[in-house]
Amino acid sequence: MTVAMNNLDAINPATREFLQATHHNYINGHWHPAASGKTLAVQDPATDKTVTHVAESDAADIDVAVGAARQAFENHGWRTMKPALRERLLHRLADLMEANTTVLAELESIDNGKSAAIAAAVDIACAIDCVRFMAGMPSKLNGSTLKPSAPFLPDTELFAWANHVPIGVVGAIIPWNFPTLLFCWKLAPALAAGCAIVIKPAEETPLTALYMAQLIEEAGFPPGIVNVVTGYGHTAGAAISSHPGIDKVTFTGSTEVGRLILQAATGNLKKVTLELGGKSPAIVMPDADLDIAIPGAASGIFFNHGQVCTAGSRLYVHRSIFDKVVEGVAEIARNMKVGPGLDPATELGPLVSRTQQERVCAYIAAGMEGGAEILAGGTTPDSNGFFVNPTVFVNTRHDMSIVREEIFGPVLVAMPFDDLDEVVAQANDTRFGLAASIWSRDISLVHKLAPRLRAGTVWVNCHNVIDAALPFGGFKESGWGRENGMDAVKAFTETQTTVISL
Ligand code: NAI
Ligand code: MG
Repeated sequence: MTVAMNNLDAINPATREFLQATHHNYINGHWHPAASGKTLAVQDPATDKTVTHVAESDAADIDVAVGAARQAFENHGWRTMKPALRERLLHRLADLMEANTTVLAELESIDNGKSAAIAAAVDIACAIDCVRFMAGMPSKLNGSTLKPSAPFLPDTELFAWANHVPIGVVGAIIPWNFPTLLFCWKLAPALAAGCAIVIKPAEETPLTALYMAQLIEEAGFPPGIVNVVTGYGHTAGAAISSHPGIDKVTFTGSTEVGRLILQAATGNLKKVTLELGGKSPAIVMPDADLDIAIPGAASGIFFNHGQVCTAGSRLYVHRSIFDKVVEGVAEIARNMKVGPGLDPATELGPLVSRTQQERVCAYIAAGMEGGAEILAGGTTPDSNGFFVNPTVFVNTRHDMSIVREEIFGPVLVAMPFDDLDEVVAQANDTRFGLAASIWSRDISLVHKLAPRLRAGTVWVNCHNVIDAALPFGGFKESGWGRENGMDAVKAFTETQTTVISL
């Protein structure tokens, strides 16, 4: 099968204008090239062609950005601004995102490979929702009042309060699978809390972060409160995680880099939030509504080409319905429209990079060599782009890498089970603990099964449902802390206790 080319002639004029512009870092309200003058190429994953260049920044640029953020945090009145005014600026940013949804979605598609139509409907819509949700938080960030007893001060009356104050300067390191959405998951709660921030997008997908910086400038945020610096992880990213002027790092990406960030953070004991990998189970019980469970399990793994930390990459199906469910999912896989992201008919775009395509293909090869059987896919279409056909494996063993490791591609392993204890043990037999889904109509079983799953989110009769209101994060090696919800704002604060002797 040959895949069509991405048609860059059909994009919005504003998207083209942005692509053709020179791209600099956004620091202290100004646009600067990397101090070294270096640039890095941005590839269209559907064609492997360079579409533009961005600054290749390193430690020197991060240092200037952190200095600007510190200065802005201390002096520019952002953290002392009335909550309603901070709220208004965040809403203005959301309005600008809404007005420019097409440009954001097209840039995301050209940068990451995903469908522009899906990006507009999911990624950008959820990103706007996140900014709006967090816009409402500054006025709701309540502390508590306390009446201390202090037995060693029997004759003194005391009064105290505990407040959430902004943590300071935040460093955010973003991956390439949901560039705009995860930019907003970090930016919006940090700003709602009153912090200043330095953000580094992934080297594969820097474009929407730079476009967001333009919108941030247009919205009128004080200079230095938001700084966007592009560059590689081992240089610019590492400079963020070790910088003594950063109070907190928030990271989404691989478990391996999460560990490096944690080590680097020990210098000034900066606070760390980590949202890492997953190998999430989807469990189909014998009573499940298969009209929902079969397409649900398929989209659980194939959405965003499997490049989702919560992808339902291990499918456990009760033996009595195993063949029917797995054949149903394989049939969906075989019929998915693989193509470039700018084609509105595309259901599955290319992976983000040649590296990811090679990684995913290596996992598929290892599965085949190990004796697993392929029911769908297992191949790459004829294209210069980084496509992998949606793949379904059966006849796997527990020790296979395709069952144990995060593949981060459109690859599903399906396994039968006979009883509940068995499937609970198998579902939890992983170092990850990000998410799980249960497919069943038995309400009592669902209530008993969900808490036995060691996962930060358990979905029932759905998968990959995320929302700005829902706490999100991992058990075990899937991470530290939670994003979204009020918890996310508090994660960008310190609790300060004030005690008065009356
Ligand atoms: P990665 O973890 O290397 O990249 C994510 C971000 O971390 C990027 O901005 C990168 O520049 C930065 N980074 C890399 N090395 C760094 C370092 N030493 N210090 C500070 N920042 C650093 O992920 P990569 O290599 O792109 O993908 C590898 C695998 O990671 C994927 O196959 C997938 O399994 C997993 N992954 C998980 C994600 C998630 O959503 N949880 C997102 C992206 C990747
Ligand atoms: Mg890496």
